[in-house]
Amino acid sequence: MTATWEDELATVERDAAVSEPMVRQAVRWLSDRHPLGSRVLDVGSGPGCGTVLLAEGFPASEVIAVDPTPGFVERAAARFAEHGLGHRVRAEFGAIGDSSLAALAPADLVWCAHVVHHLPDPVAALRELSTLLTPGSGVLAIAEGGLPARFLPGGYGVGNPSFVNRLEATLSDHFVESWSLTGAAVGGGRDWPLLLADAGLRHQASKTFLLDLPAPAGDDVRRHVIDRFTRIQRLIGDQLSTEDAAALARLLDPADPVALTHRQDLFVLQATTWHLATGA
Ligand SMILES: C[S@@+](CC[C@H](N)C(=O)[O-])C[C@H]1O[C@@H](n2cnc3c(N)ncnc32)[C@H](O)[C@@H]1O
Repeated sequence: MTATWEDELATVERDAAVSEPMVRQAVRWLSDRHPLGSRVLDVGSGPGCGTVLLAEGFPASEVIAVDPTPGFVERAAARFAEHGLGHRVRAEFGAIGDSSLAALAPADLVWCAHVVHHLPDPVAALRELSTLLTPGSGVLAIAEGGLPARFLPGGYGVGNPSFVNRLEATLSDHFVESWSLTGAAVGGGRDWPLLLADAGLRHQASKTFLLDLPAPAGDDVRRHVIDRFTRIQRLIGDQLSTEDAAALARLLDPADPVALTHRQDLFVLQATTWHLATGA
């Protein structure tokens, strides 16, 4: 079955809620380095959770969220109104690859988080994003790569310690197949600073931010982790060994004392890297 972004709204919103402290750090880093910016574009904004944080970090800027998924654009517009940001933040329909973004140029900051690795030609996508920058001063910020999230120590008390690595490897293969992920996105290709250079951009800096939510986890984190493992079971459950499938089922079975629902040792530890570049 082909995956569609429309189906992912709840997951993208839950991920964004849990990741908020990390994204705030990245926005602060960026606004300290580049305090001015009269127009900010959030390309592939999804339902606009990160856009709200950008708008807070750049309080004097016009901020435009752009996404090709109609349900996300609608949700983003509603979110901006809920936050009282409607006077300077708006949501538009548009996509890298179909020339729709050109009308929004020039931008002092183009922010593009967790989007480019989904596209069939990341270098062409980066080149297109570079054409949106204000000549001479515009900055492109992409969030790509880092380290996968960890939620529990070792094998989670249900499998051997490599259980989690096998889940991640199987999931990664699944995403490569179903979302056109490139080698670059999964560590098999060139690193992002090199891809930025391939696209004619000048790499300025990369910085990795931690999402560090120690145990005991709050209810929102627990829901996020359960959602994540439920999704893993739905997507790749049938590709796991009998032993790993049984370990995953135990994590999700509320009748089992080791299930995610009951655990006091859930945490989130994850790293995401932001790369900054300017026009060459
Ligand atoms: C993983 S979500 C990231 C959402 C948001 N940037 C965030 O960090 O929470 C990927 C987003 O890329 C959008 N997308 C997919 N193809 C795109 C394209 N060609 N141009 C721009 N955005 C695209 C999807 O609609 C989705 O909202």
